[in-house]
Amino acid sequence: MRILSGIQPSGHLHLGNYFGAMRPQIELQNEHECFYFVANYHALTSLDDPEAMRQLTQEVAASYLALGLDPDRAVLFRQSDVPEVTELTWILSCVTPMGLLERCVSYKDKVAQGLSPNHGLFAYPVLQAADILIYRPQGVPVGQDQKQHVEVTQDIQEKFNHRYGPVFVRPEALIRPEVAVVPGIDGRKMSKSYGNAIELFAPAREVQKRIMSMVTDSTPVSEPKDPDRCNVFALLKLFASPEERRLWEDRYRRGGTGYGEAKKRLFELFMETLEPARKRFEELSRHPDQVEDVLREGGRFARSIAQATMEDVRKACGIVTARH
Ligand code: ADP
Ligand code: TRP
Repeated sequence: MRILSGIQPSGHLHLGNYFGAMRPQIELQNEHECFYFVANYHALTSLDDPEAMRQLTQEVAASYLALGLDPDRAVLFRQSDVPEVTELTWILSCVTPMGLLERCVSYKDKVAQGLSPNHGLFAYPVLQAADILIYRPQGVPVGQDQKQHVEVTQDIQEKFNHRYGPVFVRPEALIRPEVAVVPGIDGRKMSKSYGNAIELFAPAREVQKRIMSMVTDSTPVSEPKDPDRCNVFALLKLFASPEERRLWEDRYRRGGTGYGEAKKRLFELFMETLEPARKRFEELSRHPDQVEDVLREGGRFARSIAQATMEDVRKACGIVTARH
């Protein structure tokens, strides 16, 4: 099966990105033909600092490599190395009803947070549909918050194929229920834009501070606690082995264990699990040329696929160019 997904370089990556998207995506490289990209055109809708854009683009790519993406098995590239995707965005815009975009919660959410909406933010799902459909993938591994964008892609794919013939393949969102929504330190969905994230590659002291400041209720240490209503447990169980998970569940329900102890263990598990990736990330930060080589090669390959699709697209809609 062909798999594709992307992550915006709009901030430092966090545990929600890791458990909800990157870890499942990297696991898929063993069984499937995987394409993952750094969605820098998408990030332009919210990021206007060129230096941060360059830096974070490199950082997202280095994170994938540090977390185990193997460039011999999966294709890693930059969205902007496939400029055909912006051409397809325009063509898809012309089969996309306004109402479809007006219903998108991610747009409404960003406006509610005070981001002044530009046309790019409104049209964001069309660009996303283009960068999915252009590679004709069957599966798109993402967190729950991206489900609607994949549904919009399906609608656009149907509209296009209905009008012009069977050019595109229907993609399905692949969402793992146990990690669909990873909570942040305040209990809401962990997100770069909510200020509630625990970053994967922050200095250890910073990570510890974030974990120790997680919001919990005021149940006294001696009292029983409900693990299913605690965001410390929600993260702990993602890191812990099944036995250790059961052990903590039991400790919560029996009482006598404070949230502070659970936070301490969470920090230990974070460091144990992510230490190798954190080392590799640091190493890659010192050798950006290694990351660049992977991106350049990946981009070349991804582009060759996109160009072949675009020939079919232009032919299907009667757009003639003198380019070929
Ligand atoms: P953010 O919300 O922090 O800006 P992105 O929108 O860049 O994160 O998300 C990149 C990928 O990580 C997407 O597939 C998204 O669904 C996933 N993801 C982000 N936050 C979470 C979360 N808290 N739980 C599960 N998956 C998440
Ligand atoms: N919108 C996605 C996010 O914020 C990023 C993204 C862009 C994406 N293009 C994509 C995800 C294509 C999956 C497939 O996380």
